[in-house]
Amino acid sequence: MEDKEKVTIPRMVEMKREGRKIAMLTAYSWSVAGILDEAGIPVILVGDSVGMVEAGYRTTLPVTMEEMLYHTGCVARAVKRALVVADMPFMSYQEGPAHAIGSAGRFLKEAGAEAVKLEGGKGVARLIKALTEVGIPVMAHIGLTPQSVHTMGGYRLQGRTPEEAERLMEDALTVEEAGAFSVVLECIPQELARKITERLKIPTIGIGAGPYCDGQVLVINDLLGLTRNPPGFVKRYVNLYDTIKRAATEYRTDVEEGRFPER
Ligand code: KIV
Repeated sequence: MEDKEKVTIPRMVEMKREGRKIAMLTAYSWSVAGILDEAGIPVILVGDSVGMVEAGYRTTLPVTMEEMLYHTGCVARAVKRALVVADMPFMSYQEGPAHAIGSAGRFLKEAGAEAVKLEGGKGVARLIKALTEVGIPVMAHIGLTPQSVHTMGGYRLQGRTPEEAERLMEDALTVEEAGAFSVVLECIPQELARKITERLKIPTIGIGAGPYCDGQVLVINDLLGLTRNPPGFVKRYVNLYDTIKRAATEYRTDVEEGRFPER
């Protein structure tokens, strides 16, 4: 049964209790966000992945507050039902609680987001606490945290050793304790994701973390087949890369050969 009511943060937490899986997707534009909302996607993340899949940066590190505010505004204006979560870009929160509150507040006040997401576990717990205490809902993000790509030495599976797995479990429990309403688990072994999901009361949203999370998230460009070399865990639902290329080629030849516009 499709739920038509506005998705709120309490509703998202309730979905875990009811055992309903949560299908989250990223969106960056007004046009695509409107389609995802109509398709019944309950949570839309304006991910800083926009820097890699739409702006051509090699990592998410160069993405700015102004870029994220722009994309969040585009998405928020299109959405009627989904919960809109804005990703906090690199160095928009790390300096401390006042810095995090200032940046996160802009996403809610200026761009229309309903929550923010930030990367890190124990190390950012005090920031999550500060944000939730002033009424800014936070989605946490642990495991592979792309803003720490240089520390991790690349985009690779996290939590492989028992020590790493224990540290990630502690991170998950700590962000929940700090007040996060949900947590993204990126690229961790599926058994570890299952254990974390069982221990937490808040929903876990997996990406490359197997089937046992409370929800899943994909980057929309990967799902649509716009990304040339998506990560191995991605399921492509359509190949828009080839479809757009074919349409553009057909248009070009139609113009060149006088078939468009018709006489
Ligand atoms: O930026 C992003 O799109 C993300 C998701 C992959 C979770 O953080």
